[in-house]
Amino acid sequence: MRAADERLLETEKFKALGQLTGGLAHDFNNLLTVISLNLEIATDMIGDDHPVLDLIEPAMKAASSGAQLTSSLLSFARRQPLVARTSDINALLGEMASLAARTLGGRHPIRLALRPDLPPCAIDRVQFESAVLNLLINSRDAMPSGGEITLGSDLVTVPAGGTAALPDLSPGRYVSVAVTDTGMGIPAELREKVFEPFFTTKPVGQGTGLGLSMATGFARQSGGQITLDSVAGGGTTVRLLLPAAATPPAAP
Ligand SMILES: Nc1ncnc2c1ncn2[C@@H]1O[C@H](COP(=O)(O)OP(=O)(O)OP(=O)(O)O)[C@@H](O)[C@H]1O
Ligand SMILES: [Mg+2]
Repeated sequence: MRAADERLLETEKFKALGQLTGGLAHDFNNLLTVISLNLEIATDMIGDDHPVLDLIEPAMKAASSGAQLTSSLLSFARRQPLVARTSDINALLGEMASLAARTLGGRHPIRLALRPDLPPCAIDRVQFESAVLNLLINSRDAMPSGGEITLGSDLVTVPAGGTAALPDLSPGRYVSVAVTDTGMGIPAELREKVFEPFFTTKPVGQGTGLGLSMATGFARQSGGQITLDSVAGGGTTVRLLLPAAATPPAAP
């Protein structure tokens, strides 16, 4: 098959998968809301020391994990409503680095490599942070015996006519957020597959295979793209490219 045909097929496949999972996630989310609400009401009705609370608590936790899962699916299907706010990406990454340090543990320090004077981006901060956190966790998991993770930012300009390396992007300026590790890398034959929802190489219970799907959906829905550079055995860089917000005109 020609590369262009293959790309088209891939896009169609993702579209169909997106519609399916998006529709399912949406209905599923409504069901979970009913479950959570009723559990909350039941909790209020029985008082603090009722033995049935021991049964209700894990049920509530499961419903909330289910809600997190459907949220990732909705992101993948680009049906997560985004609340875009003009944001200073470097500031967000700085905050995230210190917050994530705790989640990742001491064996995976985060090094910041921020480009100064970045233009702002109009993004949904919650979704952005969730996408970056997913990438950081992937990097941690790729270095089981520890290692440094670099969280970087940069400015990328797509020239008029586009660029082959970033085929989804229209001309303009983009802020790139890169998560780089020196971990196990991704073998060439899996580099497309890892973006599919539910594709995971992690043991049951440790990965759902939704991190990269979620991040991809978020990037596309924000008008950007996600890219992957990886060398088997030599580390991985995943980049989120997000459109730079128009800089406000200089004061007269
Ligand atoms: N930085 C990385 N280095 C090596 N392999 C990676 C990296 N990031 C992702 N992968 C591979 O891609 C697969 C899919 O990643 P993805 O984040 O979508 O799901 P997951 O991490 O397996 O599960 P989840 O994110 O839902 O907990 C991973 O199982 C892993 O094989
Ligand atoms: Mg992941």
